[in-house]
Amino acid sequence: MQPMIGVIGGSGVYQIDGLEGASWVKVKTPWGKPSDQVLVGRLNGLPMAFLPRHGRGHVETPSSINYRANIDALKRLGCTDLVAVSAVGSLREDFAPGDFVLVDQYIDRTFARENSFFGPGCVAHVSLAHPTCRHLSAVCAEAARLAGAQVHEGATYLAMEGPQFSTRAESLMYRQWGADVIGMTGMPEAKLAREAELCYASVAMVTDYDCWHEGHDAVDVQQVIATLVANSGRAKRLVTALPGLVASDRAACPQGCDHALSHAVMTAPD
Ligand code: ADE
Repeated sequence: MQPMIGVIGGSGVYQIDGLEGASWVKVKTPWGKPSDQVLVGRLNGLPMAFLPRHGRGHVETPSSINYRANIDALKRLGCTDLVAVSAVGSLREDFAPGDFVLVDQYIDRTFARENSFFGPGCVAHVSLAHPTCRHLSAVCAEAARLAGAQVHEGATYLAMEGPQFSTRAESLMYRQWGADVIGMTGMPEAKLAREAELCYASVAMVTDYDCWHEGHDAVDVQQVIATLVANSGRAKRLVTALPGLVASDRAACPQGCDHALSHAVMTAPD
């Protein structure tokens, strides 16, 4: 089967350069409206889709994003693999602003978002022991290196509700918990991708040291935007390197992301 890569662009990534036959398509979902239309086209022979997570013009807040509609729209378009790009704060000295981090674990502290496709009438519990696809993450790490980025593979992402940044006490506590990076959009996106049986990798671009670091100013939006602008070339090159690194004929996901629901549904069939 031919893979199709869906890119969910965060702050700083608002399109894919060089997409052939590109057009914005409106996708209807039973979960409501996605953040925006989806840009579809082909890159190096592979079909690709691109969805700006906050919508063009950055209009959706981390809490107002319709994560279910976004994941469902990309699934309906035929995506097999999702690459989620986002800005994060660093909770450790050795992850510096400008670095790219491949997330492999999450601590989910969000509380005001729909976080499952399942509910009364159809109950399911997917495994999230390994919430990202390690094969797709390795492809993204290689693409990031090719793009010239400093790359860290394996990190725990603290997903906070926002929209305000953390207090210093919270930031220090998250460090004690073992979190490496902090952001506002990684969850429930990763959970929903697993429920939708999609391979999911999270490319987190470090923009700041949040507010725990004595030697750096506390994070603000200007700092985040300045780092994103400085890194946008690398982020774009990463995305364009992806099709060349993903096998053009795709076997089943060795980790089983593509059949995550096989042993997850509790409700008896009618
Ligand atoms: N996104 C970028 N930097 C962040 C931070 N410090 N906290 C939460 N989200 C962020």
